[in-house]
Amino acid sequence: MTPNNESNSRLALARADSGDEPICNPLHARTFSEVLAETQLRRRNVLRGGLGAAVTMLMGPAALASWPAPTTHTKGERPGLLGFQAIPTSVADSVVVPEGYRVQVLLPWGEPITGTYPSFDGLRASNSAQDQAEQVGTHHDGMHFFPSLDAAGRPRSDEGLLVINHEYVDRLFLHPDGAVLSAPRPFEEVAKEMAAHGVSVVEIRRDSLAQWSALRGPRNRRITATTPMRFEGPAAGSPLLRTRYSPEGVLVRGTLNNCAHGVTPWGTYLTCEENWANYFCNREARPPREHSRYGVRNTPGPLGWYSVPGWHTVAAAEDPDGLCARFDATPSGSSAVDDYRNEPNAFGWVVEIDPQDPDSMPVKRTALGRFAHEGIVFQPPRAGRRLVAYSGDDARFEYIYKYVSREPYDPDTAGSHLLDEGTLYVARFDTGGRGRWIPLVHGRHGLTQAAGFRDQAEILVNARAAADRVGATPMDRPEWGAVHPKTGEVYFTLTNNNDRDPESTDAANPRGPNRFGHIIRWREDVPLPAVNEESIGFSWDIFIFAGDHSTGRVQGRPLDDSNVFAAPDGLWIDPDGRLWIQTDIGSGAMNRGDHEVFGNNQMLCADPTTGEIRRFLTGPVGQEITGVVATPDQTTLFVNVQHPGETTSGPAFERGEWTSHWPGGAPSRPRSATLAISRIDGGKVGG
Ligand code: FEO
Ligand code: CA
Ligand code: CA
Ligand code: CA
Repeated sequence: MTPNNESNSRLALARADSGDEPICNPLHARTFSEVLAETQLRRRNVLRGGLGAAVTMLMGPAALASWPAPTTHTKGERPGLLGFQAIPTSVADSVVVPEGYRVQVLLPWGEPITGTYPSFDGLRASNSAQDQAEQVGTHHDGMHFFPSLDAAGRPRSDEGLLVINHEYVDRLFLHPDGAVLSAPRPFEEVAKEMAAHGVSVVEIRRDSLAQWSALRGPRNRRITATTPMRFEGPAAGSPLLRTRYSPEGVLVRGTLNNCAHGVTPWGTYLTCEENWANYFCNREARPPREHSRYGVRNTPGPLGWYSVPGWHTVAAAEDPDGLCARFDATPSGSSAVDDYRNEPNAFGWVVEIDPQDPDSMPVKRTALGRFAHEGIVFQPPRAGRRLVAYSGDDARFEYIYKYVSREPYDPDTAGSHLLDEGTLYVARFDTGGRGRWIPLVHGRHGLTQAAGFRDQAEILVNARAAADRVGATPMDRPEWGAVHPKTGEVYFTLTNNNDRDPESTDAANPRGPNRFGHIIRWREDVPLPAVNEESIGFSWDIFIFAGDHSTGRVQGRPLDDSNVFAAPDGLWIDPDGRLWIQTDIGSGAMNRGDHEVFGNNQMLCADPTTGEIRRFLTGPVGQEITGVVATPDQTTLFVNVQHPGETTSGPAFERGEWTSHWPGGAPSRPRSATLAISRIDGGKVGG
């Protein structure tokens, strides 16, 4: 085996704050007059002094008046929503939570859950690809708890299905001696990497001592980068989805880079495909926009993060079904059904999974558009009104989208048809705290054949290009969203953007460079439109500017020792209205320079009404905290720890000097895992 000489530290530095995609939106899709107007506004505000003043001015008094005034609390006072003491930042290789709480590690990478239940080798990671396909994957991310029902049909808080996304893999730790980094790559290694991706569905139960355990239940399932799936919605069967594997353009093998998630009102799980472009290559001189606008380059992974040399380099003799060859999208035959030129078009979707039926085929729902989907969140549905969902495209200068079903929601008949027939919109954030949703519909707003869009399928496959065309607002990397269950207010994290220069700031992305990120929120004029009613206007403001003691602001007040943070990413609002915020400072920036003050990645809890915010959890070394959901009674909070030890460089890996051995301790390998967090007194977590 070729020694592993991969320098993760170099890659990590490149990845520090920019995510895993290159900038693909060269124009930032704004007109000159918009840039000019915003630049003039910003200069006026700088003259008036201070970030707070600038934000107030950009938003305008009307927008501010529409939000509740923040309440100030004296230090030490215990307001209603947040009932725990903030913890300090940490650089320890452990999970820390407030006094009165306990943490259990559940479902780490490698835990056997299906098939022959192969035991995990935590020292050498010697498990085979087949073993991995029967074990929990790596890089836990979005997650949901589907409770079992009791005899009376009520949801239980001690038993259910935990469904977990597995975003990507760390090749240093996945294979016993790191990965072979020369072409051709061994099939067995690539197959193991594919098997570690996807989704795990696992039945779990809490015992009388409040300990959770994974069961070998009949609904347990692994979905991977090779699981057969089909397309539904307007782009299913489109010529743009035809491949050698599926000449009709209706099937695809696998889901990739499953970042955050969503949950439908009818109880299915949605897994979202984020940085899928990094797995592909297309060596054409001028790749089609379906590839170039999404960052598919002539070698896989522009940052070399996932798969250099690519999965496609596996020898043909080892890969008769093209499982690996499909990641080279360079045309080699005479038409799309001879090769895999369209394989990248089969990724970048939201995938619906029925967690209750392990034999069901996952479905990529094309009406929701194709981009680097971070996650998807729904407005609480109401009978007789159309269903509304939001999804962010996480790359620098990309957009936030909204989907509205054509048919109204009916709890008795609600199902997947609501995700197949509807309208996709994209957000334009205007000055004055107002914004508009612009429909991406064929024939409207210049989305015509003459402009390069033959039909709705072509718009959906090229959602980014369509959004460019209609003048959407390029954002600072939209990550998770959350909808307040009572007010319908929508919150979105904008994690950071070092490439936004001072001249390209706008009202909704007012810091250039945006080193630490912010959280934006909006209120719809019509949250749940009726049939034949369009909902296009909204009011917005910035809830919080992440940062250190001098740059962080929540509702105009500076952040302090109890809550400084950077790179907001995961987001969830619990049934009581607590806003849980998780951070993902990149491996190259973590605990260095202006990010040293934030320590390891963490989770905070905020009261959206008062702006109170406290640090609730700090994670081990080299990881991000991502994924959060509670049991129905809110006495257990499930939280994911992704990629502990990612700050380990290639040479340090070889020397056995790993930055983390969490959760097993030395000498075992670091493992992504789920945390089950509860209060010792059995109360609601966070309360
Ligand atoms: Fe997978 Fe944008 O985080
Ligand atoms: Ca994320
Ligand atoms: Ca992130
Ligand atoms: Ca990460």
